[in-house]
Amino acid sequence: MRKTLIALHFTLPHLPLASSSSCTNPAFSSLSLFGSKILSISTSPITNFSQSSLEDTSPNHYPENVVNLSACEVSIQYTHPGQNDTINVIVWLPTNWNSRFMGVGGGGWTTGARTSLAWPASKGYAAVITDGGHTGSNRQNPDDWALASPGNVNWVLLQDFAAIALDDASTIGKAVTKAFYGEDAKYSYWSGCSTGGRQGQMLAQRYPTQYDGILAAAPAFNWESFIPAEFWPQLIMNLQGEYPSPCELDAFTQAAIAACDELDGVKDGIINDPSSCTFDPYMVVGQPYSCRTGSSGTFTSSGAAVAKATWTGPSTVSGKQLWYGLSYDASLSGIANTTCTSNGTCTGTPFTISNDWIRLFIAKDAGFDTRNITREEYDAIFRQSVNQYKSIMGSNDPDLADFKTAGGKMITWHGLADELIYPNGTFNYFDRVRTGDADVANYFRVFGAPGVAHCNGGPGWYPGNVLSSLVDWVENGVTPEVLEAKTVTGQERSANLCAYPKKLVYRGGDSNLAESYECVE
Ligand SMILES: *[C@@H]1O[C@H](CO)[C@@H](O)[C@H](O)[C@H]1NC(C)=O
Ligand SMILES: *[C@@H]1O[C@H](CO)[C@@H](O)[C@H](O)[C@H]1NC(C)=O
Ligand SMILES: *[C@@H]1O[C@H](CO)[C@@H](O)[C@H](O)[C@H]1NC(C)=O
Ligand SMILES: *[C@@H]1O[C@H](CO)[C@@H](O)[C@H](O)[C@H]1NC(C)=O
Ligand SMILES: *[C@@H]1O[C@H](CO)[C@@H](O)[C@H](O)[C@H]1NC(C)=O
Ligand SMILES: *[C@@H]1O[C@H](CO)[C@@H](O)[C@H](O)[C@H]1NC(C)=O
Ligand SMILES: *[C@@H]1O[C@H](CO)[C@@H](O)[C@H](O)[C@H]1NC(C)=O
Repeated sequence: MRKTLIALHFTLPHLPLASSSSCTNPAFSSLSLFGSKILSISTSPITNFSQSSLEDTSPNHYPENVVNLSACEVSIQYTHPGQNDTINVIVWLPTNWNSRFMGVGGGGWTTGARTSLAWPASKGYAAVITDGGHTGSNRQNPDDWALASPGNVNWVLLQDFAAIALDDASTIGKAVTKAFYGEDAKYSYWSGCSTGGRQGQMLAQRYPTQYDGILAAAPAFNWESFIPAEFWPQLIMNLQGEYPSPCELDAFTQAAIAACDELDGVKDGIINDPSSCTFDPYMVVGQPYSCRTGSSGTFTSSGAAVAKATWTGPSTVSGKQLWYGLSYDASLSGIANTTCTSNGTCTGTPFTISNDWIRLFIAKDAGFDTRNITREEYDAIFRQSVNQYKSIMGSNDPDLADFKTAGGKMITWHGLADELIYPNGTFNYFDRVRTGDADVANYFRVFGAPGVAHCNGGPGWYPGNVLSSLVDWVENGVTPEVLEAKTVTGQERSANLCAYPKKLVYRGGDSNLAESYECVE
């Protein structure tokens, strides 16, 4: 375990026990956290607990059902006095503790979900989540908390979501763990994907001593830029007043895959190196398509414009590139989604988080209609998002000096066919860290996963054992040169994912076997 850089303002009950104490309130009653007021602590034993892998919403591991779990659940409610927030933290303390602690991240607008505790607890981790003070009935609905009143952002709850609650939950979770087992966890880990990945990056940057190991997959960092970027294909549709059907958009994706799949030497529906593909969707305009739902049609130029916009990414009226594009083999139904009625009339269906962000945090008006945004207004919205929120939600400060000094290790992996978060944003962050510290690969590595969609899904190679690689790096000093990965649908195929800037290259032989591929810079 590494040394703490900043003293934690904490008091704990003195527990001379070598074994766990009972799952009762008194065991935790003298818990306190500087800057906070504990409102309540409740405990509840969990026995013979089972949970389907489907309930675990953004896992960082292969799907696995949890059965017969025994643990102590501790729920802590607290507030930051003067700020009127109410935050709930839940800790699961498994009977078969492995002496490790884990903070588990959320997804979308969710800061963390109780359902994410079962898997780590089943592996022996004492695990914590926080709701970040978002106590509404639907945690994915920011309308419940984003505005203190029309025109006024609820900055306290945004800061809780962005950073503060993550630090609090980590500190509280560790204290509860110590109180229960009578000793500190030997190692602490963070695991999250998407928002959970952003949270991992934020922890490395702002709370660099909380975790020995951070797993930050497909991170939703660069939030101030990539969230407005996600609206770009919708803007293009609104401006042209034409909305291609999901079937036509899927057919564009299939056409691009057909054109570029074999550039990597293997016809498998995966574009290993998306930057090698130069498919021009206007080349197929006028040609017939039939998509996988069974419908058919003729490729339109308005459809080509939407596909191209998604792959190229947004730019200003004067031509300045604002953000990246998505890969050709990423589904267009994430950010270029449309909904059609039975008579064939389609309308735009913006990705909810992007739409929510513009409505609630830029316009600060719950009733704001994003369909009426002009090209010039979009540029201004993008700039305002960066100006007002980069320091809060960006989570993309490339200076990881304190995390490095503290001895932390961080692994990020990103599906190259991610349909929501731009892999290039992740690679660009790594480049920026490396510009400031050539030694970065000794504590932070980024891996691209060809053909994998957002957090999971897709035909590509999924690194479902990435947590083991992180534990090995932290506890045994084994640097992850590659990440073992395999396909999870259809014919099982394996590959070792490469540490960026290296890329996975097919060298001949059985394309289902990892040894047929090499990492090349
Ligand atoms: C444990 O849970 C399983 C699955 O819910 C159930 O079938 C079984 O009867 C339970 N066992 C006990 C001892 O309660
Ligand atoms: C379930 O867990 C309990 C407590 O750890 C244990 O005693 C029991 O043998 C387990 N049952 C099964 C079927 O594994
Ligand atoms: C504190 O928040 C509650 C709702 O959570 C609200 O009813 C109350 O007015 C707030 N108090 C202040 C002082 O803002
Ligand atoms: C992503 O970055 C690579 C390398 O800089 C570049 O070749 C590619 O065009 C970029 N792709 C997108 C979609 O922005
Ligand atoms: C796309 O739109 C359809 C139809 O409205 C909806 O069911 C689906 O959830 C949307 N997809 C995404 C990724 O938002
Ligand atoms: C198709 O249906 C929508 C709503 O159901 C309606 O507004 C529109 O006028 C219809 N279009 C045609 C061409 O019938
Ligand atoms: C947005 O535009 C639509 C027509 O596209 C119009 O009916 C509506 O009133 C406009 N809304 C606002 C708030 O301007």
